[in-house]
Amino acid sequence: MNRPKVSSSWIGAAGNAALDLRSDTQTTPTPSMLAAIQSCSLLDDVFEEDTTTADLEAHVASLTGQEAGLFVLSGTMGNQLGLRTLLKQPPHSVLCDHRSHIIQYEAGGVASLSQALVRYITPSNGVYLTLDDISDAILPWENSDIHCSPIRVISLENTLNGMIMPLSEVKMISEFARERGILLHLDGARLWEAVVAGAGSLADYCQYFDTISLCFSKGLGAPVGSILLGTKERMGHARWVRKSIGGGLRQAGVVSAPARVAVDETFGKGPNGEGGLLRKSHENAKRLEKLWVDLGGKMQYPVHTNMCWLDLNSSGVSLERFIKMGSEVGLRIADSRLVINYQVSEEAIERLQGVFEKVLAEKDDVSQEEKINRYAASKDE
Ligand SMILES: Cc1ncc(COP(=O)(O)O)c(C=O)c1O
Repeated sequence: MNRPKVSSSWIGAAGNAALDLRSDTQTTPTPSMLAAIQSCSLLDDVFEEDTTTADLEAHVASLTGQEAGLFVLSGTMGNQLGLRTLLKQPPHSVLCDHRSHIIQYEAGGVASLSQALVRYITPSNGVYLTLDDISDAILPWENSDIHCSPIRVISLENTLNGMIMPLSEVKMISEFARERGILLHLDGARLWEAVVAGAGSLADYCQYFDTISLCFSKGLGAPVGSILLGTKERMGHARWVRKSIGGGLRQAGVVSAPARVAVDETFGKGPNGEGGLLRKSHENAKRLEKLWVDLGGKMQYPVHTNMCWLDLNSSGVSLERFIKMGSEVGLRIADSRLVINYQVSEEAIERLQGVFEKVLAEKDDVSQEEKINRYAASKDE
């Protein structure tokens, strides 16, 4: 039998991702993901018959110590179904960090799907929310005063901007919430990264939440998909809501098979990501932080995992100019945030070093007045 030709974009493994620092969503699916697609089951997941998808759900449920999992198309879908499943009816509110994905980047889904008010707070330590931040934000009378929209769910994100919320803080917040009948959702799109950095296992973290959303298509590098986790009853309800928004999939193995490869190969087969590929991206992010700081640059946030947040303002270079300098050497940059995916190449790190040197050399050469002029000019470019 003549096999169909495999498109050349599957063969190069890293592909464009090698020089792409915009996001860890920019990975290229691998040949072993293609092989998994070629041998997956091709059954109907709306009828719950697709074994490749059911196996993935059971596997991740077991890794995280949860009763059940539900494969979903995206991290946004996982978060929104999780919140919809935990919330009953208005008036109700969700409390979260002001930088949370659920409020900043999910198209207002908490309002449209759950009709919830979102109350967001700023962490006093600048990195992650603490129990004190949360307890200060919840008024003692809000469950009984009809002027209030009571907080029914606290939604945490880990990692957030690449930074880890420590397990000890999560435990305290969870105990506080459970004593008050408040439920907890975790946007764990990048929880894998915290685990690989040694912060605790998936199950250690997940035990403190009622629903958890994990992404396969961020650092793990799958082309599509996330998973929502929780009790069997809650996942049954989430499956129902998923259907109502058009997220029921037919031959879902085609997308769940590469997601399984992403878990086994990129995260690794051990419970803490042993044997996986994420550690390398953390090392590269730390190398970039050191290069930048050694050259006199300042950081916006510390590097905990795979994100490196440069403070461009203090270097006197505009974002536009920084992006342009990157593109002149073939790097794709979108922000002062550099995200290191596991396919980012050594070549990318070397080219970034060159860009850093150029940016920070300009800083030393140039008077304050000149810097302001250049900044204004580059804004007009
Ligand atoms: C922390 C976090 N949660 C959720 C999402 C949503 O994922 P998706 O783009 O798959 O909807 C993202 C996307 O970048 C994210 O960074």
